[in-house]
Amino acid sequence: MPSLADTSVVIVGATGGLGAPIARRLAAAGARLTLVARDEDRLRSLGIDGRLVAVDVRKAASAAGIASAARDAYGGIDGIVNAAGAVAFGPLDELSDEVLIELFTLDTLAPIRMLRAALPSLRESAAAGRDPFVVHVSAVVAEQPLPGMAAYSAAKAALMAYDAAAARELRREGIRLIDARPPHTETGLATRPLAGQAPRLAEGLSPDAVAQRIVDAIANGDKDLPSTSFA
Ligand SMILES: NC(=O)c1ccc[n+]([C@@H]2O[C@H](COP(=O)([O-])OP(=O)(O)OC[C@H]3O[C@@H](n4cnc5c(N)ncnc54)[C@H](OP(=O)(O)O)[C@@H]3O)[C@@H](O)[C@H]2O)c1
Repeated sequence: MPSLADTSVVIVGATGGLGAPIARRLAAAGARLTLVARDEDRLRSLGIDGRLVAVDVRKAASAAGIASAARDAYGGIDGIVNAAGAVAFGPLDELSDEVLIELFTLDTLAPIRMLRAALPSLRESAAAGRDPFVVHVSAVVAEQPLPGMAAYSAAKAALMAYDAAAARELRREGIRLIDARPPHTETGLATRPLAGQAPRLAEGLSPDAVAQRIVDAIANGDKDLPSTSFA
């Protein structure tokens, strides 16, 4: 694995409880970052050097815009970390169509679209011997779906299944796709649901520890991050 120094990495959800500490660690390792979330002021207040892209990734056109911003800034893309997402709670009959569509668009479709938009650049990175990578933060509920979180579990399980298949396609091209499935983490995500109310949850992992595990996986050449790898 070459060093992360001078690699061009797109971080989607860069202002988030997981995205921000991942971004800080990659910046410290010398990566050149494209930082993506909806709120430009929050992106700027991170104080991390990088190209800032304030877009809503639920919009289909956002992925192409992000990829071209990263290419314009750095000449290519060597990595993507997708840590944007949301959760919804509640019994099956209480989740509206609007919430279901928002959940699957953000948690499942958006990372798939981002990867597809960046693929030509990731292929160029592989051809140049730069060991390109993609991290999709799915979740432990993809492995262990929970009642009261059926739609969230399904959106994450769909992403995990996509990742399992896509990782095998991409491996042949020299591109590594890591599906990361952290357990509950104290980022406050559960207090900002699209719908419903979080059940009582046991104390979660520290965001810094989860971010460090993900960055270590990138640097060490890991191919998968099951929930047990965060223990
Ligand atoms: N925290 C946990 O317990 C946990 C456990 C396992 C997996 N995960 C997964 O890890 C990922 C990150 O979670 P987190 O805890 O860091 O959540 P978070 O603190 O709420 O961060 C979410 C990030 O996504 C961005 N975002 C949300 N909607 C967006 C949109 N439509 N377009 C662009 N950016 C958007 C947010 O920024 P803006 O709102 O400014 O756009 C923020 O940067 C999620 O996919 C989550 O499902 C979390």
